[in-house]
Amino acid sequence: MLSYKVDDETELRLIEPRHAERLDALIERNREHIREWSPWFKDDRSVENTRSFIRRNLSKLAADEGFALAIWHRGEMAGQIEYNYFDWANRRTELGYWLGASFQGRGLATNSCRALIDYAFAELKLNRVEMRCGVENVRSRRIPERLGFKEEGVVRQAEWLHGRFVDMVIYGMLASEWPANHRS
Ligand SMILES: CC(C)(COP(=O)(O)OP(=O)(O)OC[C@H]1O[C@@H](n2cnc3c(N)ncnc32)[C@H](O)[C@@H]1OP(=O)(O)O)[C@@H](O)C(=O)NCCC(=O)NCCS
Repeated sequence: MLSYKVDDETELRLIEPRHAERLDALIERNREHIREWSPWFKDDRSVENTRSFIRRNLSKLAADEGFALAIWHRGEMAGQIEYNYFDWANRRTELGYWLGASFQGRGLATNSCRALIDYAFAELKLNRVEMRCGVENVRSRRIPERLGFKEEGVVRQAEWLHGRFVDMVIYGMLASEWPANHRS
């Protein structure tokens, strides 16, 4: 029901409890692909993890602390995108995302990010959007780079990823720099 159109074939929809099986099936079909760069991925996960994630996500939305949306493409659930948090005192947020492997290479993540960045600046009146990518996650790094984010630095051993610490690159975009805000 609640959806945000990205383009004619792609929309972002709030993830509801009734989507649990479908979301879980997408995650299970893409176990290795998603796990590689996702610290939240537990090896002994099950649909119960997905159900509690959906409940937590709806509580987070209600508390105005961030929310995740499913990316739907041509009527299929393709992946997920989220505002990891809203830091209202400093008017900033951070985006996270993943796609099923077969949905890569079509611009779905980049275009969904663009939609959430537009929304963050235009509707939520935030001042800063951040993305953090593993230094070696080249495919993910291309997303903020394609969107014109500034590479601001590397935080060392910032994430515990399946038994090892990984360095993260921080990318930032300010409201004053975002192209959509310069349209007259
Ligand atoms: C990170 C991840 C979402 C990137 O997926 P992706 O498909 O490369 O990203 P996009 O959906 O934005 O697609 C971009 C690709 O589609 C191509 N493309 C095709 N049509 C396009 C369009 N209309 N607009 C933009 N790009 C388009 C681009 O050229 C690009 O390919 P390239 O990198 O070979 O040049 C995906 O690899 C993933 O889910 N990885 C595992 C989880 C993960 O790492 N999450 C991020 C943690 S920080």
